[in-house]
Amino acid sequence: MVKAGPHRGASKPRVAILISGRGSNMVALVEAAKADDFPAEIAVVISNRADAAGLARAVKEGVPTVTIESKSFGKDRAAFEEKLQSALEDHRVELICLGGFMRLFTAEFVQAWYGKMLNIHPSLLPSFPGLDPHGQALSAGVKVSGATVHFVTPETDAGPIVMQGVVEVRDDDTPDTLSERILTIEHQIYPNALRLLARGKLRLDGAVCRLTDEADAAGSLISPRPAKE
Ligand code: GAR
Repeated sequence: MVKAGPHRGASKPRVAILISGRGSNMVALVEAAKADDFPAEIAVVISNRADAAGLARAVKEGVPTVTIESKSFGKDRAAFEEKLQSALEDHRVELICLGGFMRLFTAEFVQAWYGKMLNIHPSLLPSFPGLDPHGQALSAGVKVSGATVHFVTPETDAGPIVMQGVVEVRDDDTPDTLSERILTIEHQIYPNALRLLARGKLRLDGAVCRLTDEADAAGSLISPRPAKE
């Protein structure tokens, strides 16, 4: 059994949010962290794309930003990660949240941050990892979908599940309408999952993430309302 999360100290653990695009999950985390009782501080937003719209949103929120263009590193993931690691150290980061960060890591980087790096994916993992999860869900004809916050492992969109939220899938849904409904759930579960991690409430039991205290599970289930008769 491994305790996940930061070293417990007097100050709040410092979090980096890694983005590649719009950054709506980043904004949800930044907004949540404004509360005095939120147990983590958003120290920096790091983008691997200079054109990520989320960068301007982070600036507006008053959060320091760093851009490390990954394109120029090509397939040299280790060289990109060396720059990333030094930015994380410059900002004394203890926890990482990936928010639509579309770049794969080496196994070494993932191992170094194991238990301290979360990702969010807009499906009920292990269903529909990778690209176009909404299209995958609609093609499969599932009746519920949702979002998953999980610890990052070397496989894409896999790793111990911290929290999930569920939405109904409607007959007339398109990938866009389903994505929009799931996004509101993402913005609820990501801050909740980070809160648990930062408070040291998560433990890793092999491939499974458990709560150190069952009482913390209260209110963590978000499920669709039953349809009207
Ligand atoms: C979110 O829907 C997130 O779940 C997804 O990218 C979007 C980013 O939106 N992540 C993945 O698909 C990871 N495989 P945002 O930039 O507005 O947070």
